[in-house]
Amino acid sequence: MADTLTLRRPDDWHVHLRDGALLQAVAPATARQFARAIVMPNLSPPVTTVAAARAYRERILAAVAADPATAESGFTPLMTAYLTDDTKPEELERGQTEGVFTACKLYPANATTNSAAGVTDLAKLERVFETLERIGLPLLIHGEVTDAEVDVFDREAVFIERHLAPLLQRHPGLKVVLEHITTAEAANFVRAGGPNLAATITPHHLHINRNALFRGGLRPDFYCLPVAKRERHRRALVVAATSGDPAFFLGTDSAPHPRSSKESACGCAGIYNAPFALESYAAVFEQEGALERLEAFASEHGPRFYGLPLNEGTITLQRVDQLVPQRVGEGELSLVPFHAGELLGWRLAGG
Ligand code: DOR
Ligand code: ZN
Repeated sequence: MADTLTLRRPDDWHVHLRDGALLQAVAPATARQFARAIVMPNLSPPVTTVAAARAYRERILAAVAADPATAESGFTPLMTAYLTDDTKPEELERGQTEGVFTACKLYPANATTNSAAGVTDLAKLERVFETLERIGLPLLIHGEVTDAEVDVFDREAVFIERHLAPLLQRHPGLKVVLEHITTAEAANFVRAGGPNLAATITPHHLHINRNALFRGGLRPDFYCLPVAKRERHRRALVVAATSGDPAFFLGTDSAPHPRSSKESACGCAGIYNAPFALESYAAVFEQEGALERLEAFASEHGPRFYGLPLNEGTITLQRVDQLVPQRVGEGELSLVPFHAGELLGWRLAGG
């Protein structure tokens, strides 16, 4: 068995880097592992304009530069626009032309963290969708219905049927990424879609099923949205991610919340997986006997879908056990990393 694995530098096609002190704390973890990342715009207030995205990009670059471990990393944040009912298509087009927006993000209103300003009715965005289709700016979708009548474990599958399939029928030229898929239905839908449809898959949805949320008690560290589903869905995601199909690529959905917000009567959704993300994916690919397909999933399918160049340079994973700490960071900003207390069998060299 080889004891190192060298890959073209990977990218994270879905991450939450937050703002302020939390941004300072978490951005280096992403910059250490990834050359580029698609940065989610669900700040408070959300990133809805070109000016806000440009300013946020500067704050991210400053946070990466402030850490000696990543100051020279050359990390590139790729910015997204948060869609609201009032988004002007002209703003999206200008953001793309000026090299600020790489994509835009659709949160159904109230589907998840900081989505209150999201979209209440897809019909309101017809002009936006026409523009995105014409200019080739990808639409990234949090694919869950918010209808309280729909069981929380069915919200992704129902979104696909009620909203996504009709949207793609109306706009066959729209480039769409169904983010952080969690179901066999989503994997099948994306697999059967054309070259304009893709999906990101997180490390946590590859590792855990919904039992993790209730093992011996309520486990807020495994709560995220869309929530983890049954084992058969996790298996379908593992098969999709490790299949070599270019419609599936790496997106961590690393979503840090301070412990005080997670361990609360109304705890926030989100799993902080950035510090050990590649090691986490490597464990899944290895278990499937598919380590030779990790590079395509992590470093090739994403840029090809987005029409961006592949990264130059490589990273190396070493076959060394590492114990994931129970906490990273201090005091108010203490975070529980995904895999806390577990042994991972690979370690990013230089990490
Ligand atoms: O678990 C999640 N956390 N899912 C999301 O969609 C948002 C994210 C966050 O921003 O915390
Ligand atoms: Zn997310």
